[in-house]
Amino acid sequence: MSTFRAATVFAVTVLMFALGPALAPAQDYPTKSITLIVPFAAGGPTDTVARIVSDHMSRTLGQAIVIENTLGAGGTTASTRAMRAAPDGYTIIMGHMGTHAAAVALYPNLAYKPDVDFEPISMAAGTPVVILGKKDFPAKDLKEFIAYVKANDGTLNQAHAGVGSVAHVTGLLLDRLLDVKPTLIPFQGTAPAMNALIGGQIDFMTDQIVNVVPQVQGGTIKAYAIGTPDRNPALPDVPTSKEAGLPDFQASAWNALFAPKGTPQPILDRLSDALSKALDDPNTRKRLLDLGSDIPDGDRRGQKALAALVKSEVARWTPIIKASGNP
Ligand code: MLT
Repeated sequence: MSTFRAATVFAVTVLMFALGPALAPAQDYPTKSITLIVPFAAGGPTDTVARIVSDHMSRTLGQAIVIENTLGAGGTTASTRAMRAAPDGYTIIMGHMGTHAAAVALYPNLAYKPDVDFEPISMAAGTPVVILGKKDFPAKDLKEFIAYVKANDGTLNQAHAGVGSVAHVTGLLLDRLLDVKPTLIPFQGTAPAMNALIGGQIDFMTDQIVNVVPQVQGGTIKAYAIGTPDRNPALPDVPTSKEAGLPDFQASAWNALFAPKGTPQPILDRLSDALSKALDDPNTRKRLLDLGSDIPDGDRRGQKALAALVKSEVARWTPIIKASGNP
């Protein structure tokens, strides 16, 4: 064997030996359970979407997916934890329109850049936003709701899930459109906020439909309008904001999987594929659709589509947030 050939074989062997661990994980991934960080309280919309899709993903991947609810700062605490996790595919996060878009305009010292410090995996579900009131809110429709909120401005309170959360940002949009300044009450997620709305401690809020359907169907809260051009089959009696007289309230959130920057491409492909299989699974689809989710199909799935979505959403929400005088 020529000296050059011997040297090449030796170099490749050394390379394989050096990169072995980095290469091996991608090929054998996953070899242990995966931690899926959820930036909000259990039982809320992001947690619900995470649990529904991870159920099927864990079957495809052959390893358990363990949900870790890490709370605080409108989801940015969890996102910072995820950014700093090892890029080995064993820690991923269910981020959303708040943590991976709106937070940029709301946290001047944000520890991460959503479009730089994360590898997008794929969108999991679109979650239209609904305007809600407590059960005995003295209004039968959105027109009366608007009149009452304006007439009682300064005496009402509005819940959200932390600065930069979907409930906060879409709540700001509603308040700016109505030119009102209710008292904003933060919670660690819209699951606890919903309990306070059901209990009557909170007057109104905006929330993602997957957290709303069971309560509206059960009559424990009132839904005045949904922020999408069309009605949602899960809440057929809830008018669109346009039908209800507030057409500028267009608000539909999204929840999506991200991994730390540097996670190997074959692992990202494996996770993207497992999520896509989950979104094609009839039972998973039924669970998401029954809660009013908008399931991404075709070219709305995948890493490229999510990267583009993050960029466009940062561009969309930044001026809205700035216009509402926050921060
Ligand atoms: C949650 O899961 O509690 C929500 O996604 C919080 C929010 O952003 O409104």
